[in-house]
Amino acid sequence: MKNLLVTGGAGFIGSNFIKYVLNNTEYNICNFDKLTYAGNLENLSDIESDSRYKFIKGDICDLENVKSAISENEIDTIINFAAESHVDRSILGSREFVVTNVLGTQVLLDSAKEFKIEKFLQVSTDEVYGSLPEDDKSIKFTEETPIASNSPYSSSKAGADLLCRAYYHTHNLPVLITRCSNNYGPYQFPEKLIPLMIAKAIDGEKLPVYGDGKNVRDWLYVDDHCSGILSVLDKGINGEVYNIGGNNEWYNIDIVKLILKLLGKSEDNITYVKDRPGHDRRYAIDSSKIMSELGWAPKFQFPEGIEKTIKWYRNNESWWRKVMSGEYMKYYEKNYSSK
Ligand code: NAD
Ligand code: DAU
Repeated sequence: MKNLLVTGGAGFIGSNFIKYVLNNTEYNICNFDKLTYAGNLENLSDIESDSRYKFIKGDICDLENVKSAISENEIDTIINFAAESHVDRSILGSREFVVTNVLGTQVLLDSAKEFKIEKFLQVSTDEVYGSLPEDDKSIKFTEETPIASNSPYSSSKAGADLLCRAYYHTHNLPVLITRCSNNYGPYQFPEKLIPLMIAKAIDGEKLPVYGDGKNVRDWLYVDDHCSGILSVLDKGINGEVYNIGGNNEWYNIDIVKLILKLLGKSEDNITYVKDRPGHDRRYAIDSSKIMSELGWAPKFQFPEGIEKTIKWYRNNESWWRKVMSGEYMKYYEKNYSSK
């Protein structure tokens, strides 16, 4: 039996991961989340009374709070999802990114060391590798690709990865790092490409495509990322990095057109806008290590995953409308503050 501290579990991937773990293992979970703008406890309303689940509102930068969460819940495993995760926001201001993504990870690593945690899994990103040439599709990110992050977001994630590496080498902390490509699926905050375009298409608004729309991302359905993390947790070798990706590269413009087609909308509202500064051209992940060494494989093909996702956003309009209006932020006060 494992007692997991899942940080950032009220966000997009963390909340999907918590449900995935409850459905597929017998592990107990303590969700430790600051509830920034990206944290939404409504994502977990269907499992919040599960006896294997508990929520603690807390900041990973707060050492005392992290330490009491670990000791009071007999935590043996830490999985760190907590982060500022949106590239555009990191361009507008990078301080919070450095504070949470770097300093917060350092606090978790120190706490893990003090409590002799059995596993520390850092959920990282393919963005730490920088950008790939678009004209040679045979080149992909491997675990040996040098770190060459380009945005304040990815650089703060790279800083956290290097700290994790240092705690493994210096303190022998049982650290594992996963680096995944772009996720999509239910509960993704509608500031990211796919949910933003779905919401705008449903509302008949303009769809802002950055630059020429020819940047490439490698999309993976969120449940496949969750199963990859579990494989690494259960079978990964301490100190190792594991890439996770879908072998599923798309130009942004083609994703936007596909969403419009699946929603039965015209392409008239597509609008090319000023490019993101420092916009990475292409990401593509080589997942052969996790596939051959740990036996992981994605379960969802893109046509199925994107249809499921669009259906979810159609059936859960009230979820993203509450996010867009800001009403979702009242969920904690209404449902938790008296507990
Ligand atoms: P998200 O922005 O949806 O969620 C982040 C969560 O972290 C939120 O619940 C937020 O409240 C919480 N949080 C932020 N600062 C915190 C702090 N100081 N203390 C405690 N909690 C805090 O992010 P996501 O898209 O679910 O990504 C989760 C992780 O996966 C991140 O580390 C991200 O870098 C990584 N990742 C994301 C993707 C992707 O496509 N979304 C791909 C690869 C890796
Ligand atoms: O690769 C993994 C990363 O994927 C994660 O580490 C990040 O947390 C996650 O946010 C994501 O980063 P991206 O910058 O790739 O995702 P985003 O959804 O912001 O943008 C995807 C692509 O779409 C990117 O090339 C920029 C473009 N885009 C995005 C938005 C929001 C647009 O053209 N228009 C938009 O309005």
